[in-house]
Amino acid sequence: MTPQQHELDRLNELRTIIGRANRAYYVDDAPFLADSEYDALVIELRDLEQRHPELDGGSSPTDQVGAPVSQAFAPVLHGAPMLSLDNAFSLAELAAWEQRMMRLLGLSAGTDIEYVCELKIDGLSVSILYEDGNLVRAATRGDGTTGEDITANIRTIKCIPHSLQRHTGNPVKIEIRGEVFLSHQEFARINAELEERAGRTFANCRNAAAGSLRQKDPQVTAQRNLHALFYTVGEVSGWSVNEQSTLLKQYRDWGLPTNSHVRKCKGLAEVSKFVDEWETRKEQLDYDIDGVVIKVDSFHLQRELGQVSRAPRWAIAYKYPALQVRTKVERIDVQVGRTGALTPVAILAPVAVGGVIVSRATLHNEDEIHRKDVRQGDTVVVQRAGEVIPEVVEVVAGERTGLEREFVMPQTCPICGTPVVRVPGEAVTRCPNHACPARQQQSMEHFVSRAAMDIEGLGTRHIEQLLATGVVRDVADIYLLNSEKLATLDRMGEKLASRLLQNIEASKTRPLSKLIFALGIRHIGERSASILASHFGTLDNLRHATAKDLAGIHEIGQTMADSVTAWFSEPRHSELIDKLILVGVRPQDSAALQVSNDLAGKSFVFTGTLTKLKREQAEEIVRARGGRASSSVSRNTSFVVAGDAAGSKLEKAQTLGVPILSEEDFIELVGNYNSASAQSPLDV
Ligand code: IVH
Repeated sequence: MTPQQHELDRLNELRTIIGRANRAYYVDDAPFLADSEYDALVIELRDLEQRHPELDGGSSPTDQVGAPVSQAFAPVLHGAPMLSLDNAFSLAELAAWEQRMMRLLGLSAGTDIEYVCELKIDGLSVSILYEDGNLVRAATRGDGTTGEDITANIRTIKCIPHSLQRHTGNPVKIEIRGEVFLSHQEFARINAELEERAGRTFANCRNAAAGSLRQKDPQVTAQRNLHALFYTVGEVSGWSVNEQSTLLKQYRDWGLPTNSHVRKCKGLAEVSKFVDEWETRKEQLDYDIDGVVIKVDSFHLQRELGQVSRAPRWAIAYKYPALQVRTKVERIDVQVGRTGALTPVAILAPVAVGGVIVSRATLHNEDEIHRKDVRQGDTVVVQRAGEVIPEVVEVVAGERTGLEREFVMPQTCPICGTPVVRVPGEAVTRCPNHACPARQQQSMEHFVSRAAMDIEGLGTRHIEQLLATGVVRDVADIYLLNSEKLATLDRMGEKLASRLLQNIEASKTRPLSKLIFALGIRHIGERSASILASHFGTLDNLRHATAKDLAGIHEIGQTMADSVTAWFSEPRHSELIDKLILVGVRPQDSAALQVSNDLAGKSFVFTGTLTKLKREQAEEIVRARGGRASSSVSRNTSFVVAGDAAGSKLEKAQTLGVPILSEEDFIELVGNYNSASAQSPLDV
């Protein structure tokens, strides 16, 4: 084969793989390459293409690397332009805005304008056209004049009606506008799933919502449980209203979701109360808002005020302090995690980001530092999105003085001094020493954490002490603790110790899924642990499973399968399992729980707060009896179990006519469970 032929083959091969990887990432959301692997292939392809322009066959995935496939969406000309809003960052700016309006309207000082205050939802604005009450087209904002046609995707969003409820005088045509967004809960669920499947996640709710909405395949959008709230109107014919407040009421009557946190305010004094109130209340919302939108209620006044360039004069966005702020990187430290991964962490000059003081931010790994070119001494932008660990977004290059120092990954573990390893093709550098104190500490903290064995009362400091004194050498030793051993710990009185011992005892019979998760097997998160537990039923079955058995399970990929077999094949892990059994850890085998299959084919959605059972236990019961526990309500849901303060899911079930059970009804339904199993989760 000539070198030319060889390169041509490789080029074609690379184009195919990268094309597949792009599709997997952007369209199917099931990436099969690690970031670093993907980047390496793209670099190789670019290099080949540059060296051989004669081999340029026209289309190459390098043309679209990093950009979502946008030619998938046809352009849509909006009936009326989609405007943006001017911002205010202080009450003084709000007052200036009001004064300008008063002057234009010729109102005398002291007149109170009627406003409507709404939350400024941080999602994507969409415009949905209803003709004769039927949803005919939906578009993104685009440049405000032309958007992208996302009708098929919008149709999959469950809270958006395909037709408006009939009332007399419905509009012939109306562009309904609002925001599509993801709840924090959904965002976490999607990211957990992506993390397990692919190791890539969305940075924040807004990105995740955008990624979910601009999908080529509406099936993917359908699985994302997007939500929408509507708050304004575009082009209308055959209908009119006179106030923003009436518009919102009409939307509700048509069956369109609107935000319930809306307040009519007379004058700026009332507006400012609303603004202050939501500055703290926003933390309790299950979605992101970045401010409050204040609108003049009267449409008559709105028309009189008009707009300047692309923003109306009659509305303004009061923005809360940004969740992105600048600060200085004092130095870069390295942390060692439970898998031995060395994570560089930026130690920052402390700053308040959205009301929380941030002094550290993860830099993920060496490649990431080089990609962002973060140096010690740099001024950087840090962001905190919801519950997510703060991270460095970018370096403010203009602030460089030349005195910044580049970061060099240490050659040895900063904790135990063992030479570190970096497997080619992986972005992560690891400490290979299983006995590394940092790894042991982290593994143990993970083992006792709430999502794992849930041993309350054994904190970081205690674990540090127990490991340092050698009282505890592995997680099985936790079960050999007694009051004398605990008495040696700082701040551990008799009462605390006896409660801790009770908690340790109780953890012996946690469900199998919790134990599997607690073991800290790489790539096995909570969800995959639960899948493995239901599939294998007992720890013994799982232990003896082959990679082939494992990879055959729906939702368990090859990487996970290999990781599980590799874990169990290590003698020290095998010994640990034996020891755990010896000290009395008896996970509730899922097989033992499989008392019957009487819920086969039935799906349950739990919502609100359950008081007698934990939600996880209730879901475990459903699964143990062959049923499915799901997080979203659809026509196919068999039952919705509504606990206290159930919200939108309950409403949805009512709308769809899905049978609703109280927690008591549910317990009654599964009542024979108690007699069938010695260790019923219902006893707890
Ligand atoms: S009113 C002419 N109301 O904020 C009126 N916008 O920064 C235009 N937004 O593009 C919008 N919540 O995507 C309005 N309650 C709300 C909103 C809201 C979020 C978004 C919208 C708009 C952007 C302007």
